[in-house]
Amino acid sequence: MYLRQNTMNKTIAFAGSNAKKSINQQLTTYVANLSNEIDFLDLRDYADVPMYNFDDEQSSGIPAKIQALYTLLQSYKNVIMASPEHNGMPPSFLKNILDWLSRAEGEKFLQGKKVVLLSTSPGGYGGANNLNNLKNIIPYWGAEVVATFSLPKFYENIEEGQLIIKNANKKQELMTAISALEFSTTEV
Ligand SMILES: Cc1cc2nc3c(=O)[nH]c(=O)nc-3n(C[C@H](O)[C@H](O)[C@H](O)COP(=O)(O)O)c2cc1C
Repeated sequence: MYLRQNTMNKTIAFAGSNAKKSINQQLTTYVANLSNEIDFLDLRDYADVPMYNFDDEQSSGIPAKIQALYTLLQSYKNVIMASPEHNGMPPSFLKNILDWLSRAEGEKFLQGKKVVLLSTSPGGYGGANNLNNLKNIIPYWGAEVVATFSLPKFYENIEEGQLIIKNANKKQELMTAISALEFSTTEV
C-alpha cells in the first residue's frame, strides 16, 4: 500500500525493514517528504512473502505480490532504497524480497534505473558497511548507484518523536545525495 503515489512521479522510495518502528522507514519518509516528486512504498506490506525456496519456485512460480512489485518498479526511473544493517549485511527480510525480484523476469529487475541508497542505525557507522555490499551488487541488477547516505546514531537525531538531522554537514550530505536524482526539494 502507498502512503503516497502520484502517477507522474519517477521516483519511488522504500525501506527494507519489517519492523513496526523501523528507523530506516523513518529516514525514508523523511526523505520522501523532501519532495512531492517522490512516491513512498511501505515494504512492510510484503512481510508475508514466503522465504525464497527453489523448489517452491519450481512448483508454484513467483508469488503474485512479487510479480506485482516487479511490475510496479518498472514504472519508475529512480529508486531510493533504505537498508537496515544486520551483521554488516541487508536484513533477511529485504534480501528475500530482492532474491525473489531477481527471479521474476531475469536478474536485471532494476534495469536502467538510478538508485540512491540510504541507511541508518543506532551505531556510529549508520549501516554504511551494508551499503557497500549493496552498492557492489546493484549494478548486476541493471541499475546505477548514484549516491549513498548513512545516518549514524539515529536516536541522537530524534526530537519529540520526529527525525531532525541535527548535524548541518550530514543534512547537506543527504540533500546532495538525493539531488543526484534531479527533482525539486523542499527544506524540512
Ligand atoms: C540481528 C541484528 C544485527 C544487527 N547488526 C547491526 C550491524 O551490523 N550494524 C549496525 O549498525 N546495527 C546493527 N543492528 C542494529 C540495527 O541497526 C537496529 O536494530 C536498527 O533499528 C535496524 O533498522 P530498522 O529499525 O529500520 O529495522 C543489528 C540488529 C539486529 C537485530
